[in-house]
Amino acid sequence: VLKFAGSLPPEHLANAAKVRSLLLGRLVTAAIGAAAQLRLPDLIAGGQGTVDQLAKATSTDPPGLYRLLRALTEIGVVEEQSPGTFGLTGLGHALRDDVPGTARPSALLASGEMGQAWDCLLYSVRTGRPAFENVFGTDLFGYLAERPERREVFYASQAADLEATLAGLASVDLGGYQTIVDVAGGDGALLAALLARHPQGRGILLEQESVVPAARQRMTETGLADRCEVVSGDMFTAVPGEGDLYLMRDILHDWPDERCVELLSVCRAAMPAGAMLMVIERVAGEPADQRTALMDLYMLSVLTGQERTVGQYRGLLDRAKLCLSAVRQLPAGAVILTAETS
Ligand SMILES: C[S@@+](CC[C@H](N)C(=O)[O-])C[C@H]1O[C@@H](n2cnc3c(N)ncnc32)[C@H](O)[C@@H]1O
Repeated sequence: VLKFAGSLPPEHLANAAKVRSLLLGRLVTAAIGAAAQLRLPDLIAGGQGTVDQLAKATSTDPPGLYRLLRALTEIGVVEEQSPGTFGLTGLGHALRDDVPGTARPSALLASGEMGQAWDCLLYSVRTGRPAFENVFGTDLFGYLAERPERREVFYASQAADLEATLAGLASVDLGGYQTIVDVAGGDGALLAALLARHPQGRGILLEQESVVPAARQRMTETGLADRCEVVSGDMFTAVPGEGDLYLMRDILHDWPDERCVELLSVCRAAMPAGAMLMVIERVAGEPADQRTALMDLYMLSVLTGQERTVGQYRGLLDRAKLCLSAVRQLPAGAVILTAETS
């Protein structure tokens, strides 16, 4: 060790300590995940702020819970207002189940099966294959198809993440479109929001069979069932042909380039002349920021996709003979890439 000491920077030991601190990031995820699972933010918002009240409500060990709450104080999720009594910070309120854009479902996923896949990132780096499949014996969508409760958490996380994007979508004029086709539209959060804003429009949502009931339920609950058809099918085989606006949100980043070109080509073949495609994705900057770079590792370990720059998306669209005509920035780092058939 001494042999190399001369070439090391003077702050070497401080750097080593910093790396050790970074390694505790996994415990940050675990602590926030535990809080979300126990619904601590909801209980505290409901007026149960003492350790004893919280331990009773969650059937946990009071000293253990107190230690969790002390760590959550340092992380910035709660604050200890007087010894043993906690209140919520702004981050804590964001983890409540009943707030728009709640981060709770994401906390449940990150500290649950996604986190288990992230832990096995090395497998993906070695093989190029999703660690998720190695851990769970099936791909993410097959896993969700078999587990209705986890599927609900997944789509709740998608819908919550959409909240910030919707504010930006409000400026998109839908007046000229009659039929909006949402390709792999999940449980319908996006399409329902757009149809609510566009009373003359109708919608078609394409999804895998296991997701169709949740999408139908959303359309019924939002009074849109008569204006929105939910169809089951494989998007790589066929996409409904009667649309004039096609949407793909958070789809292309799930797949490798070849599959994206395949999907875009199927979509292009279905699109009537003059129809538009809007791809909604977070895009990587050049150089990539830390969040996008980490999201890219998320994709590497969980699915076969990747985060891409606008230029890379343009390349995929070109290969499917779709022409990128506009890029519109949305809040929270997402963009709308508008593409046309000619
Ligand atoms: C990341 S989610 C995005 C869902 C939705 N667009 C949203 O913004 O929340 C990807 C979706 O692709 C769907 N999917 C995956 N493979 C599919 C296929 N072959 N055909 C149709 N849908 C598919 C999944 O069921 C899942 O709902």
